[in-house]
Amino acid sequence: MNYSLQFKDAWPSIRVSLLSEQKYGALVNNFADVERVTRELEQLDAVDFISEASRKARRLQQDSVAERAEREESTSQEAPGECQNAVQAAEAPPPLSAPITSNIKCYTFPRGDVTRFRPARPDTLGILSYYLMDAASLLPVLALNVQPDEFVLDLCAAPGGKTLGILQTGFCGYLAANDVSVSRTKRLYQILNSYVPKQIRETVCITSWDGRNWGEREGGTFHKVLVDVPCTTDRHSVMEEENNIFNRRRSKERQMLPMLQLQLLVKSNLRSFEEEILKEAVEVEMSL
Ligand SMILES: C[S@@+](CC[C@H](N)C(=O)[O-])C[C@H]1O[C@@H](n2cnc3c(N)ncnc32)[C@H](O)[C@@H]1O
Repeated sequence: MNYSLQFKDAWPSIRVSLLSEQKYGALVNNFADVERVTRELEQLDAVDFISEASRKARRLQQDSVAERAEREESTSQEAPGECQNAVQAAEAPPPLSAPITSNIKCYTFPRGDVTRFRPARPDTLGILSYYLMDAASLLPVLALNVQPDEFVLDLCAAPGGKTLGILQTGFCGYLAANDVSVSRTKRLYQILNSYVPKQIRETVCITSWDGRNWGEREGGTFHKVLVDVPCTTDRHSVMEEENNIFNRRRSKERQMLPMLQLQLLVKSNLRSFEEEILKEAVEVEMSL
């Protein structure tokens, strides 16, 4: 009822896709034998969607440069004095995509192919070779664009797919991973134990605070903060009754969810962005 009002005619097809077989991506674990893993995944005809996206963006960019140069050239033939400007414009096209961290690799099967990846196997050191996750979950990690030696905070981190993604960049100078749920934090420990060597694991600081109190509990400043707020878990909600957030008994909690998300966002702001985020937060609150 909620979503049919929100999405109107688009809801039936959204609902069907939520009910369909979930398609996972295989995040390559750079702490394992990368060459062997990528070879095995490529033998299955899976494709690293991140390098594929970079390639596509570069191709699009080159095409648009060529197209612009061609267009400008034909214009300048009509008005010869403008030729120099045309070349300059063609040399500096606007970037089509944000920089993509090349260290992260995630393999998926092509559109329409619902083959499943086998569970990952441990290598000789006992480290698992890839982590199965919804490939879209990596997009926030790519958007974070971690740079060498940056301090990163993952405020709602459990069970840890994105924390693992952040570690794959190999760039973190310091990583703090927090989640209010103690039981889910245990899963975060398990994932790090299975995928990350001890010396790297020891550089990750794991805590179980309410993120809204982060400033009072831990504080510190970070170059990047990932806030993967709790949500309505729609796929789960259309499939199962148990723990369903659309259950009448959880209405209050569901209604308060946007406020919790907002509070987490406001509390986790970087000092330099403080005013900007607060301003946005106030605007959102007013529109609510
Ligand atoms: C969408 S999940 C995070 C998924 C995780 N980032 C990953 O990639 O595996 C949201 C998480 O927020 C946590 N959470 C809910 N309220 C919180 C709060 N007040 N402070 C910190 N974490 C919170 C939940 O326990 C849950 O694990």
